[in-house]
Amino acid sequence: MDKRPIGVIDSGIGGLTVVDSIQKILPNEDIIYFGDNINVPYGNRDEKEIYDLTMKMLKFLEKKDVKLVAIACNTISAISKEFEGNLSYPIIDIVEPTIEHIIKSGIGKIAIFGTEFTINKKVYEKKLKERSENIDIVSVKSRELAKLIDEGKFDSDETFECLKERIDAIKELGDIYNVVLACTHYPIVEDLFYKADSNLNYINPAIHEAVAIKHYLKDNDMLNTEGKGNISIYTTGDVEIYKKVFKKLNLKKTKKMKKVEL
Ligand code: DGL
Repeated sequence: MDKRPIGVIDSGIGGLTVVDSIQKILPNEDIIYFGDNINVPYGNRDEKEIYDLTMKMLKFLEKKDVKLVAIACNTISAISKEFEGNLSYPIIDIVEPTIEHIIKSGIGKIAIFGTEFTINKKVYEKKLKERSENIDIVSVKSRELAKLIDEGKFDSDETFECLKERIDAIKELGDIYNVVLACTHYPIVEDLFYKADSNLNYINPAIHEAVAIKHYLKDNDMLNTEGKGNISIYTTGDVEIYKKVFKKLNLKKTKKMKKVEL
């Protein structure tokens, strides 16, 4: 047993979709969350900027003595290999477990909807092609959607129009049923995706990352079976938006919410 907390990072509030899954799958684990809301969106930045900003969050969590960090961001996960060997704890990214899920499901045709960086980097495309030659992949990106969500515009026409336009674009690309919400901000407005088209199968990678965390902790005898599932939030932005997402996702109460500078 390892009672130390799990660290979770994202450019902003998106990683709370992973927290949601961790709270359901690993209810005894304590969580320390870091969201770099002042610098969101990461998806419109270049690789060096994403690396440098992420490293600051990872170093912050190192001081908090976390037992593992979940990269609850597809954009950062696209460069997760770069962090290996530079940290005192293991990291689990969100892309690998989702690839595993897609392959195991035997899906033949899939759409990936993510940030500009994730899509341009072709992270899902390359990993899926390595595993299966027969899979047909289409990709759609947005520079605006993660930012609109991070600003708390969960019900606005602007957010709905922005995602509907991309869903329509996916449908024009062929007979597609499976759509990966490949940015952790997107499942926060899952209701809007269903409003745009309720006949599609939206895949939420957060669930698969939480399952991968469970397997890792179990295999390494690091599960916390006695903790209360406390969560502490640190952000470079405003804590108010966190209260709004906690309500929207119906998350378990926080122990603490704090604005910090990195
Ligand atoms: N939540 C992040 C992701 O999963 C991206 C948001 C951003 O662009 O900062 O890709």
